[in-house]
Amino acid sequence: MARERSANFDDTDFYQRADAFFSQHKGTALTYDDVSLATNYSEILPKQANLETRLSERISLNIPIISSDMDTVTEYGMAIAMASSGGMGIIHYNMPYKEQVSQVTRVKYHINGLLPNPITVTPDIYIGDVIELIEEKGYKFRTFPVTDENGTLAGLLGSRVVKARYSHIKVAEAMDHVSKVLTLNEAVVKHNPIDVADKFFSEHLGINKLLVVDDTNRLKGLVSISDIERIMSESQSVLKPARDSDFRLLVGAAISTVWKEDGTLDRDAIVEHVTNLCNERVDAIAVSAAHGHTKSIGDVVSLLRSEFKDLTILAGNVTSGNGVEYLAERGADAIKVGQGPGSICTTRVVAGVGIPQLSALFNASKGAAKKGVRIIADGGITKSGDIVKAMTLADSVMLGGLLAGSREAPGDIVEINNKLYKQYRGMGSLSAMKRGSAARYGHKSTDTSRKMTAEGIEGLKEVQGSVANILAEMVGGLQAGMGYNGAKNLAELKEKSRFVRISPAGMKESTPHDIIEVSKRS
Ligand code: XMP
Repeated sequence: MARERSANFDDTDFYQRADAFFSQHKGTALTYDDVSLATNYSEILPKQANLETRLSERISLNIPIISSDMDTVTEYGMAIAMASSGGMGIIHYNMPYKEQVSQVTRVKYHINGLLPNPITVTPDIYIGDVIELIEEKGYKFRTFPVTDENGTLAGLLGSRVVKARYSHIKVAEAMDHVSKVLTLNEAVVKHNPIDVADKFFSEHLGINKLLVVDDTNRLKGLVSISDIERIMSESQSVLKPARDSDFRLLVGAAISTVWKEDGTLDRDAIVEHVTNLCNERVDAIAVSAAHGHTKSIGDVVSLLRSEFKDLTILAGNVTSGNGVEYLAERGADAIKVGQGPGSICTTRVVAGVGIPQLSALFNASKGAAKKGVRIIADGGITKSGDIVKAMTLADSVMLGGLLAGSREAPGDIVEINNKLYKQYRGMGSLSAMKRGSAARYGHKSTDTSRKMTAEGIEGLKEVQGSVANILAEMVGGLQAGMGYNGAKNLAELKEKSRFVRISPAGMKESTPHDIIEVSKRS
């Protein structure tokens, strides 16, 4: 009899798939530490687990991690670091919009091998003028392509002649004439400047600049051997950069609602802002607000979708399937899920609303499946195990606090009692709202502090090293989790994961216990 009962036992009844598990817990909202994942038969090694994901039909990432659009998390330095490791950064909007546009430019022009707009000089000026230019602008290089007024390549001015003793000589006389300069056509270089340039420099001994031209010999770019060597050494790293079709790093930018004096949406201002971002080749726009299931956020998303057909639009935040469906119908490609889970959030305390993150993700995933859009698990992630759990339901995660102590996060380092810290604050904290994020929480930045109710706090994060190291640790954990689940990619992780609710005693058992820890866990 006992043997018969055992024969009928299937542990899927006990370790349940998401649908069964969350239905059984209807009415109870759960978050990461409330559950654990059961292991499955596996044929894969963690290192083999593929972490590619999509944000939209147009954008794919090599790791499913995005840095949060917060003013203490993502500016251009963070965005470069995120994309260099395969993820993406969303540059916050607490700055004048032109400054945000120029930050996007800095990411898109970060060395990718091909420098699209190199500094040039004209043949008619003197070497003395070139030296003055170098001093005035503080250039660190002394080699310049020489072009005429139409941008046509006339020659190359090498550093060996940019010397004070030659000040009286004209560039036209000192340069290597175009007939002696080696160039490559942009069509050959465009899609993989690094490999093409690497081969070029190996084949042409002593040459350290490659000039790229179009069919009519107009200068289209420059590649330096030093950049290529740096990139080649970076490419040994495990995490591969996330790039666009022209080999530039991916970057997103956040926008908020902009209102006119009469209380209506300032459509022109929003379109102008996003047009400028698109001109700099931004890859995604995030329409970010604390409450995304609203007419105003829906209207901004619809406006962007109608004006920018191919733009990847992220929008949020919501915690329900209905919220996801609403934003998807208005035109969003990926929807941010999370209200109040963040490490600096006080929305749940202040407003009494918000859903613990795993239950929010489960409901959101149902809306996303119906509408064919993606969801981003935003906030509340404190360790790599949380990412594994989030990725059983979501398509990517958004991190704030985990990255805020990194070298690349904006802000100064402060020393307190021999320890180093960086500021980390909620976008709904009073100081951040004063700087511009008030609209995200339904206030005006001109409101006095008395009129604004803060939904976030300000604090400090211990300085932690580079983003690449933090991400390598997170990715290692995610791949380990996929190995335990027998999932060779993220789609399989969703399909195969099985949940159990854990008790407080189970949680205690899950972390190191009954030992004096002598080394920091890493
Ligand atoms: P973590 O946990 O990664 O969370 O630090 C980052 C996310 O928190 C959200 N966020 C806020 N939520 N009040 C809130 O209730 C705030 O002031 C606030 N600031 C940021 C945001 O979704 C971010 O990505």
